[in-house]
Amino acid sequence: MTKKRILTGLQPSGALHLGNYFGSLKPLVDLTFDANNEVFLMVADYHALTSVRNGDELRANIYEIVRDYLAAGVDPSKVTLFRQSDNSHHTEMGWVMNCLVTVPFLMQAHSYKDKVAKGLEANAGLFTYPMLMAGDIVLYDTDLVPVGEDQRQHLEYTREAVTKFNNAYGEILKEPTEMIVEGVGVVPGTDGQKMSKSYKNTIPLFGNREEIQKAIMGIVTDSSGEKPQNVYNIHKVVYQAMGKEMSDLDKLYEENLGKYKVLKEALLEDINELIAPMRAKKAEITDSDIKEVLAIGVEKARLVSGQTINKVRDAIGINL
Ligand code: ADP
Ligand code: TRP
Repeated sequence: MTKKRILTGLQPSGALHLGNYFGSLKPLVDLTFDANNEVFLMVADYHALTSVRNGDELRANIYEIVRDYLAAGVDPSKVTLFRQSDNSHHTEMGWVMNCLVTVPFLMQAHSYKDKVAKGLEANAGLFTYPMLMAGDIVLYDTDLVPVGEDQRQHLEYTREAVTKFNNAYGEILKEPTEMIVEGVGVVPGTDGQKMSKSYKNTIPLFGNREEIQKAIMGIVTDSSGEKPQNVYNIHKVVYQAMGKEMSDLDKLYEENLGKYKVLKEALLEDINELIAPMRAKKAEITDSDIKEVLAIGVEKARLVSGQTINKVRDAIGINL
């Protein structure tokens, strides 16, 4: 059976919360365990440059995201983990893709419009962002691209650019398909709404015990209800991930009707049990470990992208 080539890009965007873990990180890590998948994980640092204009901040975010993924279970011996900016084939391929699509076409991109509506500067990098992403994907003959729902249109854009390229130059680039990541659904935050950094209702994934405790004790409980639904809903997700019996969780809540503090403490213990090993692993990963992983990763990445870029250079007429 031929392996499925899977590639995704990770935006270095600050501290992760439990919603990110269950909705995106864990399902991605699970994909890397399947021997039929050949997984490439790319830190999209040039994409981040469209919104971050501070060198120290970008550098810190790059270390942080790699450390988080390694701590959450990415095994660099099974996955090609690398940085976009370490492989110049990405900017080169992005330029080729830019020359295939029109300005009115890029103007339809939801993600661009949303970001500008939220006040982000409409720089040219932000505008052509989908074509840099298309380049990332086609360089690796990618079959499947795990992304959140918000990135679906970028895959349509990639296919459009691939079609235009292949129509002009012959069947060289592979058409990728999006794989909409199915996490556990929406993880609720401490106020019962979707957990999100923009709502300030998060439980930090890598927080220390005190930080997590503070977030849990702040979970809004309904004074009339005897079973604190907001606590239970988060607990359910954690319980599932730990492989524990749901009936035991229900029993715990029935036996402790109205005892919100006891139930919150039980949730704290379970979250700690789940993430303490990841937290310990994270603390051990040094910056030089990260540089080493990325250096090995980009060598592997270039072996694959180099073949594609060579075919592309032949086809477009710049290999003399
Ligand atoms: P935030 O809403 O905190 O800004 P992001 O938009 O950066 O989070 O989310 C990154 C990824 O994490 C998304 O692709 C999404 O799949 C996942 N995610 C974020 N929040 C949740 C949540 N509450 N439940 C499930 N998945 C989530
Ligand atoms: N645009 C993606 C996001 O914001 C990140 C990304 C960059 C990406 N290049 C990619 C995702 C290639 C998948 C494939 O989440």
